[in-house]
Amino acid sequence: MSAPQVHPTISALREHLAAARAKGARIAMVPTMGALHEGHLSLVRAAREHAEHVVVSIFVNPTQFAPTEDFDAYPRDEQSDLDKLAAEGVESVFMPGRAEMYPEGFATSVSVGGPAEGLESASRPHFFAGVSLVVTKLLLAALPDVAIFGEKDYQQLCVIRRFVRDLNIPVQVLGGETVREPDGLAMSSRNRYLDTATRATAARLPEVLFDTARRLEAGAPPAPLLDQAIAALAASGFNVDYLELREADTLAPLASGTRSARLLVAARLGTTRLIDNVALTLPA
Ligand code: PAF
Repeated sequence: MSAPQVHPTISALREHLAAARAKGARIAMVPTMGALHEGHLSLVRAAREHAEHVVVSIFVNPTQFAPTEDFDAYPRDEQSDLDKLAAEGVESVFMPGRAEMYPEGFATSVSVGGPAEGLESASRPHFFAGVSLVVTKLLLAALPDVAIFGEKDYQQLCVIRRFVRDLNIPVQVLGGETVREPDGLAMSSRNRYLDTATRATAARLPEVLFDTARRLEAGAPPAPLLDQAIAALAASGFNVDYLELREADTLAPLASGTRSARLLVAARLGTTRLIDNVALTLPA
């Protein structure tokens, strides 16, 4: 197990990747905010299937947090992250400081409509502007052949696919399947905010989500079923931000005749906000 090369600057990263490319390596990137768990490591393993050189970025991006959110408290565990990436045989880690990504006088934004509208944006209106900006910068810094993002953040994945397409960024974007705890809870760096009692309750979220999806696939009418599911989550102590059925690729509201759909949920348990989603095929 050899340690990955850690690059704090875009120029050092580019130099290292250019040398790898010159030797014929394909490059796959996994952008992260650190606090790595099995979900991230599954993306790293998926990246390996596409490339000889895997680069992981670790940057807790301030522009995707509102002032009231958990930027300062967000878990940071750099040594443990680097050990995990070394064990996966990752070649490069891009770990820039804030000034490298947003130097004095930074004045550019990336604004995405379409799939960025509604859902997360309703309660986190700043979020996709921050994600789109930082991911654009990360992709342009590394220009990998492939970049992989987790499906747990499904709306984020759709937004990234859209601006990569719209801006002609020459990178193939792939989604990686959500990794779950044995009781079904989707892995997330924020799960560590849950105490023993809320952690036990948190498993109700995927339970209700999957149960609702199964009933929708069996032909139950969506509106009353979604209301029932929201009530069931509220009865377990969740504050539901949304539980919505959308068209799978565009995230547009369902048109009649849509078969390929996604059911997405966000709910707060105490001060912890959890999100999850599931793919489903609606009956013809
Ligand atoms: O999903 C995340 O961890 C972040 O939103 C991302 C894509 C790394 C951008 O900061």
